[in-house]
Amino acid sequence: MLSSKSVVLGVTGGIAAYKAAEVVSRLKKLDAQVDVIMTKNATRFVTPLTFETLSARPVTTDTFLREGSWEVEHVALAKKADLMLVAPATANLLAKFAHGLADDMLTTTLLAAKAPVLLAPAMNTVMWEARATQENLRILLDRGVHTIGPDSGLLACGDVGAGRMSEPQVIVEAAVALLLPKTDMAGLRVLVTAGPTLERLDPVRYLTNDSSGKMGYALAEAARDRGASVTLVSGPVALTPPYGVEMVAVESTTDLYNVLMCLCCEQDLIAQAAAPADYRFATPSNEKLKKQGGKPLILELVENPDVAREVGERKKPGQVLIGFAAETSDLLANARKKLQSKGLHLVVANDVTQEGAGFRVDTNIATLVSKGGEHSLPKLSKRELADRIWDEALSIRLGLSSQG
Ligand code: PMT
Repeated sequence: MLSSKSVVLGVTGGIAAYKAAEVVSRLKKLDAQVDVIMTKNATRFVTPLTFETLSARPVTTDTFLREGSWEVEHVALAKKADLMLVAPATANLLAKFAHGLADDMLTTTLLAAKAPVLLAPAMNTVMWEARATQENLRILLDRGVHTIGPDSGLLACGDVGAGRMSEPQVIVEAAVALLLPKTDMAGLRVLVTAGPTLERLDPVRYLTNDSSGKMGYALAEAARDRGASVTLVSGPVALTPPYGVEMVAVESTTDLYNVLMCLCCEQDLIAQAAAPADYRFATPSNEKLKKQGGKPLILELVENPDVAREVGERKKPGQVLIGFAAETSDLLANARKKLQSKGLHLVVANDVTQEGAGFRVDTNIATLVSKGGEHSLPKLSKRELADRIWDEALSIRLGLSSQG
């Protein structure tokens, strides 16, 4: 699959360095040539011999320890790379790369490389969330650098939060997507909705749900990488806006409705992965509500517009509409009903009670439901599922155009 491709893998000094061994092994199984550059600190976590054995190539460990001309070496690796991958990428590496520092072999090679760059950040949550790190990340994203992760979970330091390096399989999937880019969505206008909506009760309280936006952001990134012009309409989430995608931020379902009513007619494909609140408060208060002195507080909710249904009613010829069904029971029956009642071409049905599916997690387990039938998929990363959804949507689009 990757027999003519050269990946230069930078390994920096974090506990996740051991997982980079599996990244090398997976890339080798796909026949890529892998040259590993380790920072000095990385060699404290894993020995160069591990990477030398797995890659069957010499490992570069430090510019100034090498015999002979290191300048030739850094230019050579930078020139031969079809992809520069750094896994794990520490906060220190992000900072140095963002500011063009080149004080070791890895940063020197990164600076000299013209190939796409994919970083898999891994660090303590507090370091990840630090303003300096987020600003460095923004600089890199604006420059077109790609990132994968970090995931959330239990970190090696005992903290729980964002900062864990993505799984090697997911990193390799992202690397393959960059090495063998598809262009089958070039020229298409795509709109994706993502995340929760939020309905205010008073200035400090609101009604919302567990959507993290990951599914919708994965759809937007996948469509962008396949050449589409993408608009991402997102509820409030903690994700970094993907580069090269037009972002529209919304808060409530009414906001989402208004944006979709403006933009839906211009799109070739629309994927609605957002989890809009079905209800809003009938009379939100401008003042913080006070306790009722022991009496129950009765709040009245009124129904929000069904955005997907309204978009379905305005469907243009040739346009493909994709919706999701987040279910806790009767998955397929409910998905089929939504396909029909919302005028959709494809429903991505996910049983959100299953482990590794639905809200917040980095994976999903879905059945694709269309007029043509049902196709159950195994547990996939949200990015891989996104590609499968676009594959299916493009084949539906082809069917629509052949019907005239
Ligand atoms: O964001 P993540 O943490 O990654 O989680 C992903 C997800 C679980 C949110 C996603 O996979 C998903 O299932 N999204 C749809 C959630 C939802 O609202 O499902 P639903 O079955 O209630 O709605 C069906 C469809 O109608 C959806 O496409 C939804 O966007 C749309 N809808 C729902 C309500 C409403 N008022 N207007 C709508 O347009």
